[in-house]
Amino acid sequence: MTSDDRKPTTNDAGIPVSSDEHSLSVGPDGPLVLHDHYLIEQMANFNRERIPERQPHAKGGGAFGRFEVTQDLSQYTKAAVFQPGTTTETLIRFSTVAGERGSPDTWRDPRGFSLKFYTSEGNYDMVGNNTPVFFIRDPLKFQHFIRSQKRRADTNLRDHDMQWDFWTLSPESAHQVTWLMGDRGIPKTWRNMNGYSSHTYMWVNAKGERFWVKYHFKTDQGIECLTQEEADQLAGADGDYHTRDLYDAIKNGNHPSWTLKVQIMPFDDAKTYRINPFDLTKVWPKGDYPLHEVGRLTLDRNPTDYHTEIEQAAFEPNSLVPGIGLSPDKMLLARGFSYADAHRARLGVNYKHIPVNSPKVPVHSYSKDGAMRMHNVTDPVYAPNSKGGPHADPERYPEDTTWAADGEFVRAAYTLRPDDDDVSQANTLINEVMDDAQRERLVNNASGHLKDGVSPEVLERAIQYWRNIDQDIGERIAKAVNG
Ligand code: HEM
Repeated sequence: MTSDDRKPTTNDAGIPVSSDEHSLSVGPDGPLVLHDHYLIEQMANFNRERIPERQPHAKGGGAFGRFEVTQDLSQYTKAAVFQPGTTTETLIRFSTVAGERGSPDTWRDPRGFSLKFYTSEGNYDMVGNNTPVFFIRDPLKFQHFIRSQKRRADTNLRDHDMQWDFWTLSPESAHQVTWLMGDRGIPKTWRNMNGYSSHTYMWVNAKGERFWVKYHFKTDQGIECLTQEEADQLAGADGDYHTRDLYDAIKNGNHPSWTLKVQIMPFDDAKTYRINPFDLTKVWPKGDYPLHEVGRLTLDRNPTDYHTEIEQAAFEPNSLVPGIGLSPDKMLLARGFSYADAHRARLGVNYKHIPVNSPKVPVHSYSKDGAMRMHNVTDPVYAPNSKGGPHADPERYPEDTTWAADGEFVRAAYTLRPDDDDVSQANTLINEVMDDAQRERLVNNASGHLKDGVSPEVLERAIQYWRNIDQDIGERIAKAVNG
């Protein structure tokens, strides 16, 4: 490229500037002048470059791709995105949970798996993790849980003592902590991990029949994980290892993919199933509810501007299209409020006008004005109206993702079902899913974590916590910690 072919630098108003290098001064050695508009603009913009990072899940990366339906599950959902033959443009963001924006990708943590499907019926978001369960089952504990994973008030350090203090006082965390301390707690790359809705959602078909579903995005690259030693080494050598891996794979035409499979539970089974199907600390055994293939997600395009396309991406679990609904999972219901609230705080009330968050279909909403509004509003600005404005059509779009609920207002745990204890599924994970080598690494990971700054009282509770999950693993962890 010759210098003549290059575009002239302009200021933000598009006006060509006369220097990239020199500010305007009174003579070459004199003071600067306040009316150097370009210099002031550059300094002011720089000072405002950073936006607040996400509270949890601050460190992440993402890409664009497509979701192609491969099987016909139209008998379970009418959602356009899941109809046979449909291909939908998709955005994904992967993340860690507790670390800040610059933290290493390879810290032991669950990984976020956030999807935005730009469907013909508006944007559908599936905001999941790489684990099928979670640490808690009541949203009142979420803020406390995340604080226990982040930093202390006094030292501003992360602290295993407060992590284990919270976990051991929250026995419902046993299943997820077993996942976390096992191999899956540090995936080799984002390409080598599964994604799960974790929550149960509702599907509704064209006849209005309702089903409960759980999503499993199975990696086509195969599951691969890092050992603690490999992860520690990488955290120092290349903190952005996962970000780089995804970017390079896509750049080199090595497009990662995931096969979406779902477990489907008939609506009425939920009333009598031996496990509360809405408890986020539990999986549904596949012997009870097998996997059904839906389609394939492929990532084929890197962002060109990380800030506008990934940092400003806003996902919300209750951005749901016709044919897909929430469930009585209390965690999911609370997330329905939390995410949009976080986006309004982090990005502003009109965050859906940021191109990456805008649907690819026309918007006919009555929202109006506010900071950074980009889309034009037309009259009439109210409903009902007799002026030809948009009107809701309950015949075509009924409120059909519903369920019956009754009872006094209470602050109480879910009513227990026969198999609703906190430790059985963690025990099954250890004894029926892990092999000897994986169990050995679980013992090493958990004991290594516990040896790092955990106070004697909390340590004692932690050993008991593991004994409750599995006597043998508890003894081995105790021996490794004390010996
Ligand atoms: C991010 C709240 C549980 C997955 C976030 C954010 C908030 C939040 C406020 C930051 C959003 C932003 O600033 O963009 C909550 C609350 C929960 C909860 C209140 C429970 C009551 C969960 C669960 C999962 C999950 C169970 C997975 C199944 C994620 C992911 C992100 C995230 C993947 C990152 C989204 C992105 O990539 O932008 N959460 N969360 N969260 N959460 Fe949760």
